[in-house]
Amino acid sequence: MTSSHVPLIERFRERLPFAPGDPLITLQEGSTPLLIAPLLSERLGATVRLKLEGANPTGSFKDRGMTCAVSAAVRDGAKAVICASTGNTAASAAAYAARAGITCAVIVPAGKIAQGKMAQTLIHGARVISLEGNFDQALKLVRELTDTHPIVLVNSVNEFRIEGQKTAAFEVHEDLDGELELLCIPVGNAGNITAYWRGFREVGAAPRLFGFQAEGAAPLVRGHPVEHPETVASAIRIGNPVRWEDAMAATTESRGAIRSVSDVEILAAYRLLASKEGIFCEPASAASVAGLLKYGADGASQIVCVLTGRGLKDPETAIANNDGKVIRCVPELGPIEEAVLGDP
Ligand code: F0G
Repeated sequence: MTSSHVPLIERFRERLPFAPGDPLITLQEGSTPLLIAPLLSERLGATVRLKLEGANPTGSFKDRGMTCAVSAAVRDGAKAVICASTGNTAASAAAYAARAGITCAVIVPAGKIAQGKMAQTLIHGARVISLEGNFDQALKLVRELTDTHPIVLVNSVNEFRIEGQKTAAFEVHEDLDGELELLCIPVGNAGNITAYWRGFREVGAAPRLFGFQAEGAAPLVRGHPVEHPETVASAIRIGNPVRWEDAMAATTESRGAIRSVSDVEILAAYRLLASKEGIFCEPASAASVAGLLKYGADGASQIVCVLTGRGLKDPETAIANNDGKVIRCVPELGPIEEAVLGDP
């Protein structure tokens, strides 16, 4: 088997808290591509690569953490898992719970999660609670609920999530023979940047970590929680990240920073990636590239931008933000010729 056919827990077992006989709930996650971005490389005067986490089974990096969180839950005899989510954690939890044959409930902010994520969560059979409130309120409520009920919380407060997600750092480190200098990553609840830093430290690497929040949801940049976070990047519409201290430690220790990018900058990067690099990611993912374009390479020559989720997750935003044209046409050759070859 090549590494891409090995479940993440098996590939990195010696660095993860699982023993050989433990139950393994896997959808063959991890081992995602690290793709050169020619246009970005040219613009930055550096080698820029994209870590395509949308290539995971449910289309986001959450699967790395979820294989660990759900495998551990099953090992411990759990019958149900729950999370608060802006969409991707919900989709991933729902899929892994389905695979494990346990129940899953998710609490999502009403009207604020992208359609693809809602579709996934529902088809996998999770119970969806649409909260008249935001992600931060949802997370507070699931934490209270799981304090008094035997349901496993699979948000990134769960250590197994961080353990699983740190494997992305192992892969980048391995693929670049330890040459990585700078990593750009979107930040929401701040679990993923925490996980990357843990992973890099465990292999003795110390690239600079630059985390990017959306301007309207940038508590770590402002230094205080944001009560009403707003951004087009619904995945990172979070005002009070649970991994706050860990994220600050990751950027301080790595001589990086957490900075903000506007929705306009996020959408520009999103469209650039799709139209010039051939990569369709979701808006939150494009925050990493928006940040790199805004703040520059800072002297680094080997750069990785983490693209956390697939573009198909959020068809609404793609349809609302493009210059493409749909030309309606009758089934006759003349009009077809005009539609295909005529002036746009
Ligand atoms: N990118 C995407 C596509 C995400 O879905 C998330 C988080 C992030 C980046 C930020 O990662 O929270 O570890 O800093 N999504 C969570 C969810 C909150 O519920 O799906 P983070």
